[in-house]
Amino acid sequence: MFPRLGFGLGLRPPHYQDVVEGEPRVDWWEVISENFLVAGGNPRRVLRQVRERWPVVLHGVSLSIGSVDPIDDDYLGRLATLVAEVEPPIVSDHLCWTSLGGHAGHDLWPLPYTEEALALVVDKVGRVQDRIGHRILLENPSSYVTFTASHIPEAEFLAEVARRADCGILLDVNNIYVSSTNHGWDPAAYLAAIPPERVGQIHLAGHSDEGTHLLDTHDHPVCDAVWALYGEAVARFGEVATIIERDDHIPPLDDLIAELDRARQIASPAAGAAARKVAIGG
Ligand SMILES: [Fe+2]
Repeated sequence: MFPRLGFGLGLRPPHYQDVVEGEPRVDWWEVISENFLVAGGNPRRVLRQVRERWPVVLHGVSLSIGSVDPIDDDYLGRLATLVAEVEPPIVSDHLCWTSLGGHAGHDLWPLPYTEEALALVVDKVGRVQDRIGHRILLENPSSYVTFTASHIPEAEFLAEVARRADCGILLDVNNIYVSSTNHGWDPAAYLAAIPPERVGQIHLAGHSDEGTHLLDTHDHPVCDAVWALYGEAVARFGEVATIIERDDHIPPLDDLIAELDRARQIASPAAGAAARKVAIGG
């Protein structure tokens, strides 16, 4: 159902020049949709140059699919235009809400996992997919609170949204680790609840340990525990299109490419279980 794109990176401004002028060993790029919604300017110029050489997927942060607010039609229109221009193999956003009463926030807040919320999200995903003419993937969020009203495990909720709405899942392995640690969930049970045929992309990232909880900061390399969970994920889901996200303390591009090589090693079908263990432990 989804293209096997290989191993990519999130495209970030500090690397624009190296990417456009160099030959980085990256199979594809993910860009944040909101950074390219305005026509013209340097970002769109860079995007066009990158798109000439690589597949580029669009990852959004403000769809607010879980809000009771109607979807912002102006935003959807601009996203549809960007989709038509970039022709991305994958379009994604998050299983979360970011707005209420017309006020937009900048955090990705978790949902109460109830039948009512499930029906709302399924309906809105259908509207989005019809409007932009593209199937979307929804990403599991990192979270720091849960709702007492929630009675469906997050992974089951996400799986059911994907089945009913006929959309895909962007599995963020770091987010599974962060949320599982914060809430006492079992990450292996989380993976087991996700239908493999719905997983179109994987995110890897680093987080910060705040003592009382883990914070999804994207400012560190991927930690060993997340690499181990990635090994379990690729054993279940296969060689799914994978990127490393880095949004703060951004290192030189070559450092991220070296980190990406570890993902290639762990995911390689030729590696087998023994080699995978070495790569995870390394
Ligand atoms: Fe992510």
